[in-house]
Amino acid sequence: MQNHLDSAIELPKGPLQRSDGYMKLLSFVVSNARKGEIMAIENYSEMVHLMPDTDAKIETVHQAKEECKHILLLEKLARRIGFDIDDTMVEPQWESIRQSFHEAVRRKDLPACLIIQDLMVESLAIGLYKVFASAANEDQETVGVAAALLKDELEHLDIGVRRIQAEMEKDADAVNDALLWAHARVMPALFEMVNQSCDFLCEEKQLNCTMVEKPSAEIDLELLKITALEHYVGMLDKANFDPKITNQLIASMASYEAPGRVSAGLEFLRKH
Ligand SMILES: [Fe+2]
Ligand SMILES: [Fe+2]
Repeated sequence: MQNHLDSAIELPKGPLQRSDGYMKLLSFVVSNARKGEIMAIENYSEMVHLMPDTDAKIETVHQAKEECKHILLLEKLARRIGFDIDDTMVEPQWESIRQSFHEAVRRKDLPACLIIQDLMVESLAIGLYKVFASAANEDQETVGVAAALLKDELEHLDIGVRRIQAEMEKDADAVNDALLWAHARVMPALFEMVNQSCDFLCEEKQLNCTMVEKPSAEIDLELLKITALEHYVGMLDKANFDPKITNQLIASMASYEAPGRVSAGLEFLRKH
């Protein structure tokens, strides 16, 4: 018979039960994060010869090496928890982002490279790892990996801001032009990737991501997008871009919403 005092006693929690839907969601998110990390290695490696001095080249190679470590950590997490890294879950927009970066290298446009990889892609990575590292997430194994990766990506974002500020001192017009060029090419693809991720999961994997039983309500693709954008917009301010240009870009982002989907997610952009 149950004593009424029992209900007041905190029983130790058993091992976390991960629902099938959550495992599929993890497989999707981690497969895409891993793809982003692979792209980051390619981008940083391709950028090394454009870096202005030896210290910056060494720092860039070090960043590429950290991205290698991230891939291995994500793969280890998948093995430990027991979900697949699945290339059929990888979204096609990664290729177009990689191509835009390659184009910037071909044009020897270092500011555009820094903006694409260090600001835009890193902001997405931060949004993603922040959502999974949140204190509310009861999936401790995922929290541990996400928190470790988040720490590195925040450093990468800071390095990016510092590098862009240095380029800005040399030639502010070139850096502002590079922002316009990179933003028009890359931000729609990044938005599209996050906006379409629910539809992608529905169509490709018959998974309704709004119905998944998750270890935290904060694991939400819309929240991931908002967190990523907040970092991007914050960095635009911090890097001292021309406010005339950034205000125009920020206003344009509000129109990137997925058609037909009701979302209050980008309100902060409208208020900015
Ligand atoms: Fe990374
Ligand atoms: Fe990074």
